[in-house]
Amino acid sequence: MLELNDIVVSFKKEVQRKIFGTERKTVLHGISFAVRKEESLGILGESGSGTSTTGRVLAGLLKPDSGMVKIEGNDVYADRKGREHLQNCLSIVFQDYTTSANPRFTIQQVIAEGIAIGERTTGEKVRYADETVRLLELVGLDGSFARRFPHELSGGQLQRVCIARAIACKSKLILFDEAVSSLDAHTQVQIMDLLLELKEKLGLTYIFITHDLTSITYFCSRVIFLKDGIVVADSSVKDLAKLDVPYAKELLGAVLDFNARCV
Ligand SMILES: Nc1ncnc2c1ncn2[C@@H]1O[C@H](COP(=O)(O)OP(=O)(O)O)[C@@H](O)[C@H]1O
Ligand SMILES: [Mg+2]
Repeated sequence: MLELNDIVVSFKKEVQRKIFGTERKTVLHGISFAVRKEESLGILGESGSGTSTTGRVLAGLLKPDSGMVKIEGNDVYADRKGREHLQNCLSIVFQDYTTSANPRFTIQQVIAEGIAIGERTTGEKVRYADETVRLLELVGLDGSFARRFPHELSGGQLQRVCIARAIACKSKLILFDEAVSSLDAHTQVQIMDLLLELKEKLGLTYIFITHDLTSITYFCSRVIFLKDGIVVADSSVKDLAKLDVPYAKELLGAVLDFNARCV
């Protein structure tokens, strides 16, 4: 469905001694992987390993120095057509739900942004008030939330609203960048259960960026390990224990160790 081929990204170095210096730091060193239809793919890496940068590249937000991103065969960065095709297929849910919903908007208006995109995608008109209630109920919230403002919701509730907005866009592919990381453990599990349910119902494909392997084992079918801008392992979650990659083992070991200490 979505394919990354030999993606290289570099940024200008932040500290610049020479005023006209053009020193660059490469953060992605030739990343390649494919996302299959209706899978949920985890992208795992320590902080700074390039996971968010990978997310931005595959979401059409950052043109790589070299390499290709293809969505259903269309080259995303080649022309407008490719970019538009991607925008029709993909929406994004970020970690920082407090800033991803405009604080001056009611929840109705936040979701309306998504509905408007969905209308453009499908070419069908809907009644906004009805559609908002339907979406709120789909993510487990009462229709009366439509009249509230973001600050009147808990973190978990607001993240549900962001998920509703993503679904309103009618995209088949949703990218989550640390989308549950700042929620407490109990709410994380609730949100992941909701996402699993929605995936079943709507036939969605997920890309789930995280620093936390536990949520990947709970939620994903396949995982890609990123280290210093390189894919060091690509494995189905059920074969994780068989991985023979030191870095992946290390991360996995930490989780198993932690679980062992918790029982
Ligand atoms: N816009 C930018 N300008 C300069 N450096 C950046 C930019 N975005 C990310 N980086 C650097 O690229 C590296 C990878 O960042 P990122 O993809 O955000 O990592 P993470 O895996 O934690 O999400 C980091 O060293 C970060 O400082
Ligand atoms: Mg990040």
